[in-house]
Amino acid sequence: MRIGPHDISPALVVAPMAGVTDRPFRALCRQFGAGMAVSEMVSADPRLRASAKTRQRTDHEGEPGPVVAQIAGAQPQWLADAARFNVKRGAQIIDINMGCPAKKVCNLAAGSALLRDEALVARILEAVVAAVDVPVTLKIRTGWDRSTRNALTVARIAQDCGIQALTIHGRTRADAFDGEAEYDTIAAVKAAVRIPVIANGDITDARRARAVLAATGADALMIGRGAFGRPWLFREIAHFLATGELLPPPDAAQWSTVVVEHVRAMHAFYGEPTGVRVARKHVGWYVHGIAGGEQLREQVNAAQCAASQMAAVEAWCALLRAKAAAARTIPDAGGGNGPDAAIGAGLCATGARPVYNNHGMAARRARTRAEET
Ligand SMILES: Cc1cc2nc3c(=O)[nH]c(=O)nc-3n(C[C@H](O)[C@H](O)[C@H](O)COP(=O)(O)O)c2cc1C
Repeated sequence: MRIGPHDISPALVVAPMAGVTDRPFRALCRQFGAGMAVSEMVSADPRLRASAKTRQRTDHEGEPGPVVAQIAGAQPQWLADAARFNVKRGAQIIDINMGCPAKKVCNLAAGSALLRDEALVARILEAVVAAVDVPVTLKIRTGWDRSTRNALTVARIAQDCGIQALTIHGRTRADAFDGEAEYDTIAAVKAAVRIPVIANGDITDARRARAVLAATGADALMIGRGAFGRPWLFREIAHFLATGELLPPPDAAQWSTVVVEHVRAMHAFYGEPTGVRVARKHVGWYVHGIAGGEQLREQVNAAQCAASQMAAVEAWCALLRAKAAAARTIPDAGGGNGPDAAIGAGLCATGARPVYNNHGMAARRARTRAEET
């Protein structure tokens, strides 16, 4: 997929996720083969520009290009100014958020609420495209609700306004994260516009990725929750799409390196106490479904400083590696209360691991598995 001067290869994009896709996580996903990663949304409200949150969200130091900053708001001029501000801070692509259903965002008539006002959509897109000389992209849902699905109309408006790629999450705003994403609307949009279309929603493993590409004809895939605690998902999908082979999951040593380095990166990026708090969430996702993982989760949640949190992670990972090594030579090693050989033994293989969060993904994955078997 090409967006302006940027070749996005592989055509796998890390979804913008407020509170998750910070610079450390984006960098990690890029390391694991994502072709592009979109920042957490940055409010267009100029009054928030000096806030610590905006400073962190617009910090792209050392980030591999193309750097994509997402902006959210409802006023064309504020969004145009925000686009210029983000370009000054290093953004090479500006993405506009018209997909977020969060009340905090929609109450301001921003995010997916904008889909109800097509004239305002056009004014915003024109203002932002005119404001910057980098490519501008748009992220939408399929519509406000199922009776007013207008993704096709919005896509045409976007194309006419000079938007250079369009991401569609296959749910309406009213759907929130309920039910299954649908891909028919994405396929219809892809068939109708010339700009690249990125399909998004419920892509949690390599087989699903291939199925969504086939169903939509999309130019690229965007992946969000499926990468929680599994940044290597991008490598798995890229490999499967290129070769038809499923990669094994990371072994205990590889897994430990990722977790330790990720926690270290969060501590360095945020400092204390924020880094310690943000790391709790990610470690919780990493260990979910791993025998003994609850023990580490409790330890990182209890830790009050970066040093003690890091020590807990390193000690647990050392034990995990030792147990995995023992399991390779002693058949009955593993189990018990501590970390066991689950990872080394491949029990966390793609699709075999329970999921982490409250967005209905566990049930969906179970269904996908059932369909595949
Ligand atoms: C915690 C969280 C935060 C999100 N924040 C944003 C955001 O800042 N901007 C946006 O456009 N979408 C946001 N989204 C929506 C995702 O980008 C994506 O469209 C959605 O999760 C569906 O993709 P998935 O099924 O691969 O997770 C967020 C989703 C989650 C779960």
